[in-house]
Amino acid sequence: MSDLKNILNSFENKFSTVKNKDDLQNLKSEFFGKNGSISLQFKTMGSLNPEERKNFAKELNTIKDQLTSKIEKKFKDFENLEINQKLKDEKIDITLPIRSIQNGKIHPVSQVIDEISSIFSEVGFSVAEGPDVESEHNNFTALNTPEDHPARDMHDTFYLDQDKKTLLRTHTSPVQIRTMLNGKPPFKIIVPGRTYRCDSDQTHAPMFHQLEGLHIDKNITMGHLKGCLNYFIREFFEVKKIKMRFRPSHFPFTEPSAEVDIGYKIENGKIVIGEGDKWLEILGCGMVHPNVLKNTKVDPNKFQGFAFGMGIDRLAMLKYGINDLRAFFETDYRWLSHFGFDPLDVPTNYRGLSR
Ligand code: DAH
Repeated sequence: MSDLKNILNSFENKFSTVKNKDDLQNLKSEFFGKNGSISLQFKTMGSLNPEERKNFAKELNTIKDQLTSKIEKKFKDFENLEINQKLKDEKIDITLPIRSIQNGKIHPVSQVIDEISSIFSEVGFSVAEGPDVESEHNNFTALNTPEDHPARDMHDTFYLDQDKKTLLRTHTSPVQIRTMLNGKPPFKIIVPGRTYRCDSDQTHAPMFHQLEGLHIDKNITMGHLKGCLNYFIREFFEVKKIKMRFRPSHFPFTEPSAEVDIGYKIENGKIVIGEGDKWLEILGCGMVHPNVLKNTKVDPNKFQGFAFGMGIDRLAMLKYGINDLRAFFETDYRWLSHFGFDPLDVPTNYRGLSR
């Protein structure tokens, strides 16, 4: 009996010093292995008389169960510890910014679209969009450009069917039509987007980007148009004053129509926008033609407004000193890492557009 007590004591002492699974395995062999202290006790039973044997066996089995469950529980504890440690070591903090984000760059065209959207949203314009594949009606007819109008040839249109009913939009102006047909005045939108013409050289690409503007309300005048564009150009080129002129022009969808030039000069081989005696054409604009309003179910006797359209790629080239348009669409990573922008540097008016 006292043997069992000793065994129990010795087990408790050793058990309390167990540090890992190996120690525990050794302890298990020491007591339950072939020649382990407990196993040996079972062998002594043969020499006992039946009554003693019964009691002894009962006690021995109780101790055996007790110790085995202690050992098993300890094994489980070590396993849990291991798992927890592993989870801790392999933990990924998904809220941390990934370091490699520095490698990605925002294309100058995307950056400029964000800049422009920010500038116009400050004065109440919202961003509208339309599809690249457009109907001939929205792209031309509804914009007061009848079938025999020379502007159709000037646009070098990519038609998508024999009947010339579907095309790749040649400008963002059809979104004027979509917007007005789908809502009620007033309208105050800008439309950045892809446009297509069958043309390609250093300053023309078959796919390029335009920005359309449309503001329709009661009592809108050319004064509003002028103020709006003056504000936009100053903000975009980040200059306090801008030299600007409206030159009479012609577009089927506006009357009167104008083209806007801005003053510039070359200083130390660099272009300085806003001053100087050279002129640069940057956009077309005018007062929306009453026929366009009629075509979109807007009453021209109650509502009027202005529209404008400009090339985004050209604006990006001017602002960021890029001289070949084709590089925009070549997806050359070296070019992009030079001219691209930090993804986290989102342009806003109040924080500065480009830094
Ligand atoms: N859609 C014209 C073009 O692609 C640009 C344009 C001129 C748009 C005058 C307008 C506008 O909205 O009023 O050449």
